[in-house]
Amino acid sequence: MATLRLGDIAPDFKAETTMGNVSFHEWLGDSWGVLFSHPADFTPVCTTELGTVANYFPEFEKRNTKVIALSVDGLESHLKWIKDIEETQNVTMQYPIIADEDKTVANLYDMIHPNASETFTVRSVFIIGPDKKVKLTLTYPASTGRNFDELLRVIDSLQLTANYSVATPANWKDGDAVVISTSVADHDIPAKFPKGYQQIKTYLRMTPQPNK
Ligand code: BEZ
Repeated sequence: MATLRLGDIAPDFKAETTMGNVSFHEWLGDSWGVLFSHPADFTPVCTTELGTVANYFPEFEKRNTKVIALSVDGLESHLKWIKDIEETQNVTMQYPIIADEDKTVANLYDMIHPNASETFTVRSVFIIGPDKKVKLTLTYPASTGRNFDELLRVIDSLQLTANYSVATPANWKDGDAVVISTSVADHDIPAKFPKGYQQIKTYLRMTPQPNK
């Protein structure tokens, strides 16, 4: 499978998970989705990552976003490891982990980078829109745990920019001013952005976040 690019349809698959069998597109339904892989069960960084996502689960729910993890270990291993995650991270696991022992999903999503490891999946993330298209890809090495605040921030940006003709500037956080898309003519701004705007350059026009 060639590398997945933004705008591609996220490949559909059927898989065994810790919460039953999943048919991916059907499971996503009309929600946004986050599919993330980790290298292996019973490893320290992965344990903190899965615990963090369990802690953030209500934040994903608020954003109508389903989360699903993956590793190439088996179901029995996942179920045993979940006990450790719950115990050490003080959480309840409310989302599924895919048991991808035959690497079907890992290969579909190009999650094994042989020059990093022949056997383990890297730390991949795919954010998928309700249209099933890939909206973000991210790849981290095994030695670096991901920043899940950043994923929530990107979901906020994706959901905002899907509904308004805006983009979000560097280090933007929900509630900050946003950039008016260059496709919006100056004379259309007052009707589209009644909160007003600041023109810094002809191509750089800022407005308060429109949905706040
Ligand atoms: C970890 O999760 O701690 C880890 C997993 C694989 C390689 C290195 C670290």
